[in-house]
Amino acid sequence: MLVVANWKMNKTASEAKEFLDKFIPKFNVKNSKVVICPPSVDMFEFENSEVLNKIGLGAQNLFYKDKGSFTGETSVEMLKDLKVSYAIIGHSERRNIFAETDSDVNKKIKASLNGEITPIVCVGETLAERGNGTTKQVIKNQILGAIYGINSSNIEKVVFAYEPIWAIGTGKAINPEQADEICGLIKEIINKDVTVLYGGSVNDKNCKQLFAKKNINGALIGGASLDADKFLKIISEAENE
Ligand code: PGA
Repeated sequence: MLVVANWKMNKTASEAKEFLDKFIPKFNVKNSKVVICPPSVDMFEFENSEVLNKIGLGAQNLFYKDKGSFTGETSVEMLKDLKVSYAIIGHSERRNIFAETDSDVNKKIKASLNGEITPIVCVGETLAERGNGTTKQVIKNQILGAIYGINSSNIEKVVFAYEPIWAIGTGKAINPEQADEICGLIKEIINKDVTVLYGGSVNDKNCKQLFAKKNINGALIGGASLDADKFLKIISEAENE
């Protein structure tokens, strides 16, 4: 099981430190891997080896160019220097608010793989698309756009996250059967046993049922990852799976 926290634009560096001071002493995993993706300005709080020995550090985004005149962007090399080993790519908030396209997502995945950062690639449908029955086609198009031109040994290294947009931050998680179906579809499209996470209103109450599903290999968690105790509870459910 892979359990990933996406803090989004929440927590100052001092709040991140407070979280870690509470979280790390209670944290212990044997069977699962835990990754936290804080805002990049908080990352130096994770440099402490006690933290990085236990959890993976992830970025919420990256840019695909090596360096240069790209105001406001962060390169793979800069992230690696801070010991980042995962990066969320193509989150629906990046696609919708910051107009990222499937082609941007594809370039970012390639840059990430080149720099040996594991990409966590997000796909998901809107409520309208679910309503008009095009979910599977939408997911297929996003996946094929994302992996275009990536060879099969590299595709195995990619983590996918199925995040129905209507379930993100709404408190309305999808039902576990529907989540399992689309996570299974992603494995079918890729035609390999890749790691597929579910994301969208995962919390300490509903995670157990989601983790029990065959095609769900973990979760990408926003809101519920901001509270150390709730996040620890979710991790312990993943451990028991
Ligand atoms: P949520 O966010 O858990 O707050 O719904 C998930 C995500 O956007 O990755």
